[in-house]
Amino acid sequence: MTKRLWIETVGCQMNVLDSELVVAALRRQGWEMAPAAAEADAVFYNTCSVRQHAEDKIYSALGRIRSVKAQRPDVVVGVLGCMAQKDQELIRKRAPWVDLVVGPGQLHQVPTLVDEVLAGGGPRIEVSLDRNAGSRDAIAGSFESYDPDRDAAMRPTPFQAFIRTQTGCDKFCAFCVVPHVRGPEQARAPHTIVAEARKLVAEGCREVTLIGQTVNSYRWKDGERTTRLADLLALLDAVDGLDRIKFVTNYPKDMTDDLIAAVRDLRKVCQYLHVPAQHGSDAVLARMKRGYTIGEYLEMLGRIRGAIPHAAVTSDFIVGYCGETDAEFRTSLDLVRTAGFKNSFIFKYSPRPGTKAFDRLPDDVPEDVKKERNRLLLDAQEEVSLAGNRRFIGTRQQVLVEGLSARDEKRAVEVRPDDVAQLTGRTICDRIVVFDAPARLVGRLVDIDILAVGAWSLSGVVADGLADAVPLDALECDGEVPALHDIALPALQPQAMPPQPPRG
Ligand code: SAH
Ligand code: F3S
Repeated sequence: MTKRLWIETVGCQMNVLDSELVVAALRRQGWEMAPAAAEADAVFYNTCSVRQHAEDKIYSALGRIRSVKAQRPDVVVGVLGCMAQKDQELIRKRAPWVDLVVGPGQLHQVPTLVDEVLAGGGPRIEVSLDRNAGSRDAIAGSFESYDPDRDAAMRPTPFQAFIRTQTGCDKFCAFCVVPHVRGPEQARAPHTIVAEARKLVAEGCREVTLIGQTVNSYRWKDGERTTRLADLLALLDAVDGLDRIKFVTNYPKDMTDDLIAAVRDLRKVCQYLHVPAQHGSDAVLARMKRGYTIGEYLEMLGRIRGAIPHAAVTSDFIVGYCGETDAEFRTSLDLVRTAGFKNSFIFKYSPRPGTKAFDRLPDDVPEDVKKERNRLLLDAQEEVSLAGNRRFIGTRQQVLVEGLSARDEKRAVEVRPDDVAQLTGRTICDRIVVFDAPARLVGRLVDIDILAVGAWSLSGVVADGLADAVPLDALECDGEVPALHDIALPALQPQAMPPQPPRG
């Protein structure tokens, strides 16, 4: 009988991609998707360790699956991804009913491991080496890049896909667990990436998002030749049938002029740059070991704005980091008020075992202060985002239509291609646009006249082809802000968004 699989994914785009690939590998072995965890023969959790909250969610899900396992002991329960690498045996200590613990560097083993467990081989833990467990080469070798064939059916939409440019991270920011759980930075060969893009396009994909923890550190050496991200973007821009290229996440110090020029000049590359600042204070940035000062960050921002005035720049911030004083927090507020980020993802500091901050700096900002600072920073960003979005009122924007809006998705009624529904899509600068149109437009590039804006999205109507498009730079920004449309905007609170940038 066909075996059925259920998978839950938390965390960043890297995890979304890993889940797509694990499911694709199992489907090739004859597995199908189950309609619910309780009806599955294997239940997998693809996990995140970046903050405690993400781990808590998985441990409670493991608690819930326990009764299913008690009734049907044959169900294979698997914990995959970053928490598997971080907690290893601890997972089976806390939840002995877990059969499989597989780190992100061992996902290629999942199909075999599942078969072995089903054949009665008992529980298995497969993880990579710790970052201090040997030479760099040995550690890197223990994190296998996982890029088997794709399966379009497994993507959130068939016309959008993630492509991995590199695995791991070598920056070792003091607060961050990612270098520990995803291993050393290892690039994929440019020809592999381009071939993957071509194949995706042949399957109907129109937009690719390149993902790496520090995607702009990408470097591939082949003899004398070095390929950097800017070169890779040029290769992808030449792929026929591809409409849009995005890339996340950028590391501020690696934002070179050639990359900025590529974003400015290559037609398919979205003018959207996620470059997390993390904090507004030099002292805190030093305690975070981020490797730049706020002056250097602003210099980089100036180069982006100088070259591409309308580029959307977004950031991540951590509030309540070890020793953060009121005065230090206010520097982050100042940065948000002045830098003009399109949006920011704001996180309360969560101490992560294994990191330098955990070992050396006390987590001394009380939770209620973290909460309050989170709120203040989010409020400041909301004002800035709203002001930034106002400039779009009266403009015509080309939108890649992604699907039903959150409101219409919730209704869960069947929508036929000619039915008018509330749809959502994104502009070339990554702004969400909500509008009413026939559902058959999903997956297409459509011009939308923007009528109203909120802080996190724009709304409008499909252009009738009569009005002239208004270039963005011809607009004044001082008009009244129209009231938000009476619509449910897509779930888009910055913190709730999947660190759309790999919040790995
Ligand atoms: N380079 C990665 C970063 C992954 S973590 C990327 O592609 O986005 C994503 C964000 O989570 C970081 O930018 C940081 O703002 C936040 N973060 C990381 N570690 C954290 C911690 N210990 N506590 C709170 N936020 C954290
Ligand atoms: Fe890498 Fe984490 Fe810093 S992924 S760049 S160590 S925020």
